[in-house]
Amino acid sequence: MKSTITYKVSLGKDSYCIFIGNKNLENITKYIPNYENYSKKILITDKKIIEKKKRLLRTELFNIVNYEMIVLPDGEKIKSFNYLQELIEKILKFGVDRNSLIICFGGGVLGDLVALAASLVLRGIDFVQIPSTLLAQVDSSVGGKTGINSKYGKNLIGTFKQPKSVIISIDILKTLDKREIISGYAEILKYSFIKDPSFFNWLKLNGKKVISLDPSSCIYAVKKSCSIKSNIVSKDEKETGIREILNFGHTFGHAIESMTGYSNKIKHGESIFIGMYLAIKFSIFLNLCKQTVLESYEEHLNEIGIKYRLKQYNFKFDPKTFQKHIKFDKKVKKDKIKFILLKKIGHPVRLFLEDEKLLTKFLKYELK
Ligand SMILES: NC(=O)c1ccc[n+]([C@@H]2O[C@H](COP(=O)([O-])OP(=O)(O)OC[C@H]3O[C@@H](n4cnc5c(N)ncnc54)[C@H](O)[C@@H]3O)[C@@H](O)[C@H]2O)c1
Repeated sequence: MKSTITYKVSLGKDSYCIFIGNKNLENITKYIPNYENYSKKILITDKKIIEKKKRLLRTELFNIVNYEMIVLPDGEKIKSFNYLQELIEKILKFGVDRNSLIICFGGGVLGDLVALAASLVLRGIDFVQIPSTLLAQVDSSVGGKTGINSKYGKNLIGTFKQPKSVIISIDILKTLDKREIISGYAEILKYSFIKDPSFFNWLKLNGKKVISLDPSSCIYAVKKSCSIKSNIVSKDEKETGIREILNFGHTFGHAIESMTGYSNKIKHGESIFIGMYLAIKFSIFLNLCKQTVLESYEEHLNEIGIKYRLKQYNFKFDPKTFQKHIKFDKKVKKDKIKFILLKKIGHPVRLFLEDEKLLTKFLKYELK
């Protein structure tokens, strides 16, 4: 399959294109605007990717782009001040100027860190994203959020920085672990639940094909996800309104990641499956939503064999600690926790919880 879909994210002077296809890296220079004008190109990736993609990154792609390369460790731990400093110093050591280009080849972790560095070095230099995980292709590479973590919560330090383009090539996902593919599927499913019931119906029929990386099913799911996300981002780049619906499942999910120390015990997407499950259950608990929504969610995930309950991970959290970590998440306004809940599939609702005791009661019941 060769045809490439171009999707424009409209953000005025910061608009950019997402190129979605299979084997897109063979023509990479076509997808980098004003490619010839860059004086220096620096490709940043991580150790695990370089192991899996040695030939591509050291020879094939290098022969086309001729970049300097920086390789960082992999894993959520690099989203920290220490690694941000290390990365920025490595970039500066190459003698970058305002005409330099940073190319980020990696998953969401690397993308968040590199985008933050690109927004800070020389007060901002150009960068393009080559997202190499399913999660990064459908979510983190689109929308311009950068971030590192703090002991007080996830992604609490960051900026907004839009890339010059996002180049998505389905074939590079082949070396991904199964858990990573499933993690990406969480965000795909999220888009269908917050915005598009017909996409959910499509996923019920084709979800297994997406997870097995069938190219045309993946291209469709990635395109649909990017179009839903970029439509929302175009309306609300800085998350002051509608963009908040993208956080469906994330208030509970981030608390789980924070309680497990951002470790390999649970991947970001895995925690989002549990987070969406809890958000739907909380919606039902507050009488906002019908039980049938939960049944549809469970049926679909059971059918494709994805875990979405805390018990399936053998996690045991104390309700008080859970609530404390929910409050650490940045979705708190005037001391009221903000939740994105569901009325029905495709109809999210934003709720500032007036009475926190309701959450206490819900968590006590759910975690017993
Ligand atoms: N900025 C945003 O809008 C946004 C949105 C969603 C998630 N995120 C962030 O994304 C992060 C999660 O990203 P992720 O799920 O991509 O995890 P990740 O970046 O940690 O990548 C997962 C693992 O896969 C490896 N890998 C990457 N590409 C590979 C490939 N093609 N073949 C083999 N291995 C490969 C990586 O080295 C890593 O070990 C979280 O930190 C989350 O907060 C950000």
